[in-house]
Amino acid sequence: MLLVTGGAGYIGSHFVKTYLDTHPQAQVVVVDDLSEGHREALAFSDRIRFIQEDIGNVEGMIQVLQSQGIEAIVHFAASCYVGESQTNPTKYFQNNVVKTLNLFKAMDQAGVKRIVFSSTCATYGNPVRMPLDETHPQNPINIYGLTKLMIEQALRGYCETLGWSAFALRYFNAAGADESGLIGELHDPETHLIPLVLRAAQGKSKAIDIYGEDYDTPDGTCIRDYIHVTDLAHAHIKALEKLQASTGFDAINLGTTHGASVKEIIAICGEVTGKPIPVNVAGRRPGDPPRLVANADKALNVLGWKTQFDLRTIIRTAWAWEEGGKYATDRLTASHA
Ligand SMILES: NC(=O)c1ccc[n+]([C@@H]2O[C@H](COP(=O)([O-])OP(=O)(O)OC[C@H]3O[C@@H](n4cnc5c(N)ncnc54)[C@H](O)[C@@H]3O)[C@@H](O)[C@H]2O)c1
Repeated sequence: MLLVTGGAGYIGSHFVKTYLDTHPQAQVVVVDDLSEGHREALAFSDRIRFIQEDIGNVEGMIQVLQSQGIEAIVHFAASCYVGESQTNPTKYFQNNVVKTLNLFKAMDQAGVKRIVFSSTCATYGNPVRMPLDETHPQNPINIYGLTKLMIEQALRGYCETLGWSAFALRYFNAAGADESGLIGELHDPETHLIPLVLRAAQGKSKAIDIYGEDYDTPDGTCIRDYIHVTDLAHAHIKALEKLQASTGFDAINLGTTHGASVKEIIAICGEVTGKPIPVNVAGRRPGDPPRLVANADKALNVLGWKTQFDLRTIIRTAWAWEEGGKYATDRLTASHA
């Protein structure tokens, strides 16, 4: 049986949906404390055993691992706001480091040795070369990235000493929504560019802020690597398959290698929505490199994985989610019919 921590969150719920869609006989166990996630995000299937629990509760997690017959874990649960990690580092060290180490303690005691961990390109810090490959130095410039790097290193230690098998998947910018429209991105507060641009298109905000248009990029705005959340989910499935046949630790980038600028995103959002998008050009934010894109060769070579969804599909599905009323009860009920 597979355990998904943080499965009521954005990426976790898309992983659960994609996993169940591609494994028609399977069930999954989800542990989430609902600190950020949404119970409705898992209403699309009755093959989900949902347990509201904190991953930091060692006794509770041992009980879950043993009673549910857990063989492998996909670990999404974490606090994920870079800005908040700088103002409240204690929250991030506690939730992302201490509680994840508690999860590892429970795994050790319950004899669970396989895990896929959500890491991030924020572990690299300021780029010294581009695109970023997995051997790029890891010098995070914020507490969030540091907490993820600390867990990567702990996992490597567990693999070397106790024979665990683990992948740290370093995501670039997750975006988009499941094609069904049943689930999508719902963070509070939302800090990600695409939902913010779409909300400006809906008139829910006055304008989208562009932080600097004088960077050394073709249109002067920052370039980031956007990856469809369902593509991310498929990479986790490939990683789980690979873990069944191998031990040891490996870290793999999940990105597209392309990248798009802020102005390109706004332009495509304008085309997809058919609405004008008011912009407000603000100053640069400290710590924003001009270009952050993945070298994704290793994901192809090791996992046999590459992205299938392009930027327009990312924005089209995100728009359908924003316009569809989010976790609308009538659509969730219909999916069970
Ligand atoms: N969204 C991105 O672009 C992105 C990029 C890189 C890495 N990541 C990583 O991917 C993972 C998922 O991100 P997301 O955007 O889906 O975030 P999210 O906030 O939507 O999901 C995280 C989930 O974990 C749960 N959670 C948090 N602490 C918990 C705890 N102690 N016990 C149990 N559940 C807990 C929350 O309730 C939430 O449902 C995170 O680890 C994040 O760091 C995300």
